[in-house]
Amino acid sequence: MRPNSWRRYCPNRWATSGSGEHVGGAPPRRIGRRGVPGMIHFSQVYKRYPNGHEALKRVTFQVERHEMVFLTGHSGAGKSTLLKLITMVERPTRGQLIVNDQNLSRLPVRRIAHFRRKLGIVFQDHKLLADRTVFDNVGLPLVVAGVDHREVGRRVRAALDKVGLLRKEKLYPITLSGGEQQRVGIARAVVNRPALLLADEPTGNLDPGLADEIMRLFYEFNLHQVTVLVATHDPRHLTSATGRVLELRGGELVRSGEENRV
Ligand SMILES: Nc1ncnc2c1ncn2[C@@H]1O[C@H](COP(=O)(O)OP(=O)(O)OP(=O)(O)O)[C@@H](O)[C@H]1O
Ligand SMILES: [Mg+2]
Repeated sequence: MRPNSWRRYCPNRWATSGSGEHVGGAPPRRIGRRGVPGMIHFSQVYKRYPNGHEALKRVTFQVERHEMVFLTGHSGAGKSTLLKLITMVERPTRGQLIVNDQNLSRLPVRRIAHFRRKLGIVFQDHKLLADRTVFDNVGLPLVVAGVDHREVGRRVRAALDKVGLLRKEKLYPITLSGGEQQRVGIARAVVNRPALLLADEPTGNLDPGLADEIMRLFYEFNLHQVTVLVATHDPRHLTSATGRVLELRGGELVRSGEENRV
């Protein structure tokens, strides 16, 4: 996609950025650097699963609008749990969580689907529907949201263009490579023009070259003012990261606010 058409495609153009620095118990700010509320706000958040396992403990941080943030930590550290709290797949046991101006503890169950439409979510295994074409997979969130079919066509093609798959719209996922399938998953995540893009180990199943390609796409969305939070194990992405790195260890946030620039 050409830069201009991408700019039209992405509605979220507030001009602010910044890196929060909140580890442990310090109360985070709710207002970002330019007086705009942060995109993700965790205050003293705990998550205990029904079996008694405490997956997150006293997690406090803020992600500003338009930030690029990596979430890392050992296997079992709580990364997926943290993302599941943001997407409301799980509820916190304690603490306050505000996402895109929505206090999640006050969000009734019937509003969850509507809230999720404003998020873009990328999964490690991309979760594409095998019996639908690339076009239909990407367009599904718009169809579910009742968007007019001509607008669906426009937006799906814009999203596919962005991930470099415009020519593959009629194909079925099984005929695509792993990297291409993941790019379809990313197109589907951004087709709703989300203000916040979340990804849980999006490069976990890919070889290093393809993983870098996927990561470049996230940087590009971030350049166009989408807030991006990516959970990753991959140390290569963290050492070359220009975003902030949050690190969980045993459910506790042990690193926050660092910026590693190449
Ligand atoms: N539904 C659940 N019920 C009970 N315990 C759970 C549940 N989901 C996760 N856990 C536990 O919570 C801890 C954190 O899990 P989580 O999936 O968030 O880790 P992670 O950092 O994403 O790990 P990985 O890098 O392996 O994906 C783990 O010890 C896990 O076993
Ligand atoms: Mg995980």
